Amino acid sequence: MDSSESSFDSWRGLPAAQQPQWPDPPALRSVTDELASYPPLVFAGECDLLKDRLAAVARGEAFLLQGGDCAETFAATSAEAVRNKLETLLQMAVVLTYAASVPVVKVGRIAGQYSKPRSSNTETREGVTLPAYRGDAVNGFDFTPEARIPDPRRLQRMYQASAATLNLVRGFTAGGYADLRQVHTWNQDFVADSPAGERYEILAREIDRALHFMNACGVDPDEFHTVEFFASHEGLILDYEAALTRIDSRTGTPYNTSGHLVWIGERTRDLDGAHIEYFSKIRNPIAVKLGPTTSADTALALIDKLDPDREPGRLTFIVRMGAEKVRDVLPALVEKVTASGTTVAWVCDPMHGNTFEAPSGHKTRRFDDVLNEVKGFFEVHRALGSHPGGIHVELTGDDVTECVGGGTEIVFDDLANRYESTCDPRLNRRQSLDLAFLLAEIMQEKHPT
Ligand code: PEP
Ligand code: CO
Repeated sequence: MDSSESSFDSWRGLPAAQQPQWPDPPALRSVTDELASYPPLVFAGECDLLKDRLAAVARGEAFLLQGGDCAETFAATSAEAVRNKLETLLQMAVVLTYAASVPVVKVGRIAGQYSKPRSSNTETREGVTLPAYRGDAVNGFDFTPEARIPDPRRLQRMYQASAATLNLVRGFTAGGYADLRQVHTWNQDFVADSPAGERYEILAREIDRALHFMNACGVDPDEFHTVEFFASHEGLILDYEAALTRIDSRTGTPYNTSGHLVWIGERTRDLDGAHIEYFSKIRNPIAVKLGPTTSADTALALIDKLDPDREPGRLTFIVRMGAEKVRDVLPALVEKVTASGTTVAWVCDPMHGNTFEAPSGHKTRRFDDVLNEVKGFFEVHRALGSHPGGIHVELTGDDVTECVGGGTEIVFDDLANRYESTCDPRLNRRQSLDLAFLLAEIMQEKHPT
C-alpha cells in the first residue's frame, strides 16, 4: 500500500467538527507526514472480512457485539487491562452464542479509541476555565493549563498505543488464550463469585461437556481454537485517520488502516461536513451513530452518501436514542430505510442516550435504563420484521464503579470508590456479564409470527 495518492483528501476543504485547535500547524504537519510513513495497523483484506461478517448481521444471520472503553488511555495500555477487556467480550460472546445459538461478530472499541468529541470546548472547575479534555490523542486529562494544550506528538503515541494493543489482541485471540477450552479461565476472581459469574460457570461446564463429546467423536474444528476479533474506534481526528489511509494494492482503493471499522459520531455526522466526505472515500466497513433527533430523511441521505452502491456490510447504523425514546423514534427510521430497499445493519448503543449526573456529580448510567433501551430496540425490530443486529456498549474488564445498578448492585454512594473512566461511565465486568445473560434471554424470546 502507499499513501502518495490523494483520492481521499477531498474532505480538507470542508468544515470539520470537533477538531482540536492545534497551536502549531507545522508541528502537526510533521507528525502526520511521519505517520503516513508508518506501516498499516490493519490490512485491507481483514476489513473486507469484517464487511462480510457485517453483511451477515444485516441479513439477520449474525449478531454484532461491539464494546470497550468510552476513551482508551495511554496509561491503561497494559497486558492486564487489555486481557480483562478481551475476556469480558469473549465471555459475553460465549453467553450469546451458546444461549441464543447465533454467530457473534466480535468487535472491540479498542486499539484506537483515544479521541473524544465534547459538548463544550472548555471545562470550568472552581472558577478556572481550561480547554476541555479531548482524549489522550489530543491533550492530557489533568486539569492544568499545560496538560490541556493540544499536542500533535500525542497522535504518534496514539499510533504506538494502538499498535501495542492490537499486538496483544492478536496474541490473545490467535495464540491459544481464546481457545474455547479456556472458557473457564476467562471467568476470574471478582466475577467468578458473583451470581453472573456462577451462572457463567454452569454454562461453561455445559460447553466443556459438549467439547469433550465432539472431541470423542473426532470433531475438533479450527474455529474452536481461535477467535475472530476486530478493532474499531470513532474516526474523529481526520488528520490522523487520513495519515493512516493507504491505497490497497489489490484494488487500488483507499482503506483506513488504523482500525477495521471506524464510525462517525453523533456530533460529526453533518451531511455536508468533512467527516462524511472522508468516510465516503474509504472502503472499510463503517458505522454512523444516530441520536433521537435523527430524521428518516437524514438516515436516507446518509445511505446515499456513504453507501451509494448498497454494498452488503458496508454501513451500520448504531442507534442511541435513550430508553425513554427508542420505542417512539426508532420505528420511523427503520420503516423508511427498509422501504427504500436498503439493507443496513441496525445496532443498539444503549449507553449514550442514558447518561445523567449522580448527586455526587459523577456522570453515570442506570443498568436498568441500558437494559430497557435494548428491550425497546428488540421490540421495535420485531414489530417491523427487521433484524435487531447487535449491541454497542461501553465496558471494561475491571471492577470499576461507574454505572449504577446491576445484579451485584452499585448505588450512588459507591460511585466514588473506583470511578476510573476519563469520559463516560462503563459497565464493569459483572454488569457486562449480567447484560449478556439478559440479552440472551431477550434473543431467545419467540418472535411474533
Ligand atoms: C461515544 O461513542 O463515546 C460517543 C461519543 O458517542 P455518540 O457519538 O453517540 O455521542
Ligand atoms: Co462514550
